[in-house]
Amino acid sequence: MSASAAITVADKKVDMPVKAGTIGPSVVDIGKLYAQTGMFTYDPGFTSTASCESKITYIDGDEGILLYRGYPIEQLAEHGDFLETCYLLLYGELPTPSQKADFDYRITRHTMVHEQMMRFFQGFRRDAHPMAVMVASVGALSAFYHDSTDISDPHQRMVASMRMIAKMPTLAAMAYKYSIGQPFVYPQNSLDYSSNFLRMCFAVPCEDYKPNPILARALDRIFTLHADHEQNASTSTVRLAGSSGANPFACIAAGIACLWGPAHGGANEAALRMLEEIGTVDRIPEFVRRAKDKNDPFRLMGFGHRVYKNYDPRAKIMQRTTHEVLGELGLKDDPLLEVAMELERIALSDEYFIEKKLYPNIDFYSGITLKAMGFPTSMFTVLFALARTVGWIAQWSEMIEDPGQRIGRPRQLYTGSPKRDYVPMQKR
Ligand code: SDX
Repeated sequence: MSASAAITVADKKVDMPVKAGTIGPSVVDIGKLYAQTGMFTYDPGFTSTASCESKITYIDGDEGILLYRGYPIEQLAEHGDFLETCYLLLYGELPTPSQKADFDYRITRHTMVHEQMMRFFQGFRRDAHPMAVMVASVGALSAFYHDSTDISDPHQRMVASMRMIAKMPTLAAMAYKYSIGQPFVYPQNSLDYSSNFLRMCFAVPCEDYKPNPILARALDRIFTLHADHEQNASTSTVRLAGSSGANPFACIAAGIACLWGPAHGGANEAALRMLEEIGTVDRIPEFVRRAKDKNDPFRLMGFGHRVYKNYDPRAKIMQRTTHEVLGELGLKDDPLLEVAMELERIALSDEYFIEKKLYPNIDFYSGITLKAMGFPTSMFTVLFALARTVGWIAQWSEMIEDPGQRIGRPRQLYTGSPKRDYVPMQKR
């Protein structure tokens, strides 16, 4: 006897099937609720709504657990590299040595962008926010790579996926170089993914540049931490855009646009600006008070999460990486780190944050690390988008390959005006 949930609506009792997953909460399949009762469910913000079935990423918010295809994020961040995580998210299994070598080869040889993209960049003001450049240039890829936009063709979907994973670092580095008026740096096939990105960002034609292997490894781990995260806002945006049949480049551009918001991926930029505004440890109590004040819109950026009601497992790894990078760069006494550590200590012992289960999330420490590496604050969310591209693509592919896939089209609770007749201008 399969499980079901009985729902009584007005005088009518309907049974909705209950579906269980591998781990985590079961779901009540309400697909037939409207047909059987004439009513919708209502869940703005989707706090109790599963939008899809997925095999990619699992989060247990109460326990602070994050699994990519079943593997704990701690183990992947410790033992693998970002491209191994990309392979795992895309194909569902860890690669064999030959599969990894082939995947690295294919990604490495898609890192160049069409030369005319350079002219595309010239259209932006130099002070354009790099996220604006990324939304535009990733969307524009469908104009330059029209031969991989047919989503019904598995080969074209694979080519588009490889192209985006490979080209995001190149476009991100171009956005940075353009903002500081330096020449673009071409990718180097002899370098690994993250070293290549560091070189494209920080090399100049006037001298040799050798990526610091400690920083490259730390950045690679940061990419792994950001690679996917279940049905977050930007991933849901990508899935909804993809459900209409839009080309993959347009869908990823939509995801970048959504990630930009300060409540989501923009929080790493906002968190660093907050730490800079606090400035010194003695000013922390004033900001904690404001964060708790219902009448003050200020929130502690980098704190809280819709799902994690425990410590974000990524934040713990991020914190360790912050210490590693600052140590390597001789910045252990960075005042921003001192403010961050003290703010975390105070917040975690404060009744308000304990009661609301607000813990540091991945964005709390990432800004300090990226700033120490030399990235301007405006590039922080670009790096988040760079890393999350593989997660968006994996989730988009899963949706496209689902034989039951249909266009996403939510309904609403209408509270506007009832039907009324037009009033001619002279009678108003
Ligand atoms: C990311 O979804 C994902 O997985 C996202 C992400 C990913 O990898 O894709 O993990 C990446 O986006 C991490 C989150 C980054 N955002 C921030 O750090 C911005 C600051 N955080 C908040 O804006 C907030 O915590 C959210 C947006 C993250 C979560 O918002 P929710 O789940 O809608 O929670 P809420 O706003 O309803 O807050 C619950 C309560 C509220 O108080 P009450 O109305 O119940 O009295 O907690 C309070 C909020 O006022 N609260 C905070 C707070 N976050 C929530 N109070 C002070 N400071 C905060 N940061």
